[in-house]
Amino acid sequence: MKDLESLVARTLAEVAASADLAALDAVRVAVLGKKGTVTELLKGLGKLPTAERRSAGADINRAKEKLGAAIEARRAQFESAALERELASAAIDVTLPGRGQSVGGLHPVTRTRLRIEAIFRRAGFSIAEGPEVEDDFHNFEALNIPANHPARAMHDTFYLGDGRLLRTHTSPVQIRAMKLQGVPIRVIAPGPVYRRDSDVTHSPMFHQVEGLVLDEHVSLANLKAVLAGFAEQFFEKPRGLRFRASYFPFTEPSAEVDIQCVLCDGAGCRVCKQTGWLEICGCGMVHPNVLTACGVDASRWQGYAFGMGIERLAMLRYAVTDLRLFFENDLRFLAQFSRG
Ligand code: DAH
Repeated sequence: MKDLESLVARTLAEVAASADLAALDAVRVAVLGKKGTVTELLKGLGKLPTAERRSAGADINRAKEKLGAAIEARRAQFESAALERELASAAIDVTLPGRGQSVGGLHPVTRTRLRIEAIFRRAGFSIAEGPEVEDDFHNFEALNIPANHPARAMHDTFYLGDGRLLRTHTSPVQIRAMKLQGVPIRVIAPGPVYRRDSDVTHSPMFHQVEGLVLDEHVSLANLKAVLAGFAEQFFEKPRGLRFRASYFPFTEPSAEVDIQCVLCDGAGCRVCKQTGWLEICGCGMVHPNVLTACGVDASRWQGYAFGMGIERLAMLRYAVTDLRLFFENDLRFLAQFSRG
């Protein structure tokens, strides 16, 4: 019994001293395991004289229970300490203010393009596309701008060296759409265009929207109505419109269209240079040479085309006075357009 008491005392000390679950388990196995010291003692009970067997058995069982309880208590300590550690490392301070989410938004030029597309879709136009890397035929030749035509000089073209070029306007999409869809046709073609030009009002890359309508009975009056309707919807107000005779190789007759200044309503301001008018687009009746180049019978079909600058429309709508703001990617500028 003396041995049993010292075994219990030693084991309790070992339990208390065990540094982790593995050490604790080693102690348990050594004492209470299949070949543990206490287990062995229980097995040896049979060899004792009958008179001692009963009380010895009771003592050993008490010792076993005491050690088992001590081991369990220590194990619970380890487990709750592990839980505490985990909770502490994953602590969340629910009183901190939230970080909030910054939601991105569409670029003002994209917003303007989508607005233009929506207006023309309602007027029965579909959207056509063409490549930004073009060839001479589509960008110039088929648009009635043959080699050495002085109009080429106005285009400040980026040439790629292999005969191809970056399209200088969206007009080549007229050619592609006509060849692809044939007549009658009613399309707009928005997209980027490129010119070697850079200052407050010019950027080497900018965006245009081309329009093309061909049918059997299309006149300048239809063009006028479509553009007037567009200007009214785009600027959310009826606008005076003025057609000035002009020249483009691919239209005859040709015109440039001015609208009453959207900032001063025609009274005269800095933006319209005191004229009360703003130029928004070039247009005209499609030149028969263009139709012929696309295999369209010019004696039967006719129609109009127009082209306008998307950045210019965006500047007027949002009263932005420097074109370069659109391309600097300054978030303080862009974030102003991200909602609504
Ligand atoms: N392509 C012309 C330019 O970039 C704009 C233009 C003028 C397009 C008249 C047209 C048009 O379709 O009919 O300056």
